Order: sequence, then structure tokens, then C-alpha cells
Amino acid sequence: MGLYGASLLCRLTGRAGAGRAYGFLGLTAVGLGGMLGGHLAYRQASGANHAEEVPHVVSEGWHRIGTVDEFPADRPVRRAVDDVPVLVVRETGGTLHALADRCSHLAGPLSEGTVADGCVRCPWHGSVFRLSDGWNVRGPATAPQPAFDTRVVDGHVEIRLRREDGTERPDGRAADGTPTRAEED
Ligand code: FES
Repeated sequence: MGLYGASLLCRLTGRAGAGRAYGFLGLTAVGLGGMLGGHLAYRQASGANHAEEVPHVVSEGWHRIGTVDEFPADRPVRRAVDDVPVLVVRETGGTLHALADRCSHLAGPLSEGTVADGCVRCPWHGSVFRLSDGWNVRGPATAPQPAFDTRVVDGHVEIRLRREDGTERPDGRAADGTPTRAEED
């Protein structure tokens, strides 16, 4: 902006040569900035949300991930749904939380992080996510973790990917209309 501003000023005051030079310098700065930004974004995936694919990979409906006693209280446990790693935490009071396990910052394993005060802290760079909804309480992560609804059916823990707007399918059925596993049970 400064270089283009100087270019305009020079041209308005009759110094066309200097105006062209400032304009060229401005164009060079824009090009270098674009090159640097492209390298950071596309080559190094810097700033990309590494949990973005989760809603596109996990199928709708409830997924059974183990019996309740497989989840010791206040300890992070790793499970997988449709090959997507999931962090599961059962609080002392019995409330279950499930989040996508790969940190949105750089895909660190949240199941190897520390759980405290209703949050999980990523072991790699310290981002903190709220267990109840995946909200990124503290960075460097700039995006929340996809969160799952949880329930217990016949002593088994089941999880279902939560929609971004927090709503549930009104009929409780999968996207293709088939009954969920819990309904069949
Ligand atoms: S990978 Fe989790 S904070 Fe960087």
C-alpha cells in the first residue's frame, strides 16, 4: 500500500519515472507475498485445519466403540470410527465426551494429551480444547475439534458425529435412510 501510495503521489506531482519505479516495487512486493503465502499454505499446510476432513469421512448414525468399563474415569482413550481416530473421555460422574483425535493445528494425538478442567491439552504445542463441544479454548490451534454425541446402550458406548449447527437428524436415521445400528438392536 505504501509503495503504491508513493507511486500515485509521484505521478500526481509530475514525476512519472519515480511513479513507475514505485509501482514496479509494489508489484514485486505483492508477488513475493503471494509466493511466500502459497508456499506456507500449499507446501507446508501452515494454518490449515487438520481436522477438516472428519465430517466428510465419518458416516452418519451411531457407532459402537466399546463397553463402558473400557473407559477409565478421566483418562483419555483412543478409538477409531471409519478409520478416523477419536478421543474418548469418561468423567468421574459418568459423562462421556468424544472428539476427533487429530488436533486441528498440526494433527497431534489428543489422546496422548492431558485432561483437566473439562478440557484436553494437545501434547505437541499445547492447544486446549473443551471436551463438551471441541471449542479451541487456547491456540495455537485456530479451529475447533469435531465433536461427537455419546450414549450408552446395553453397557456399550456409542458415538455419533455432531452436526456443526448442533442439531440431530429428526428421524434418527442414517443419510441413506437406513436404520442406525442402535435402532436395529
Ligand atoms: S498439533 Fe496440537 S497444538 Fe500443534
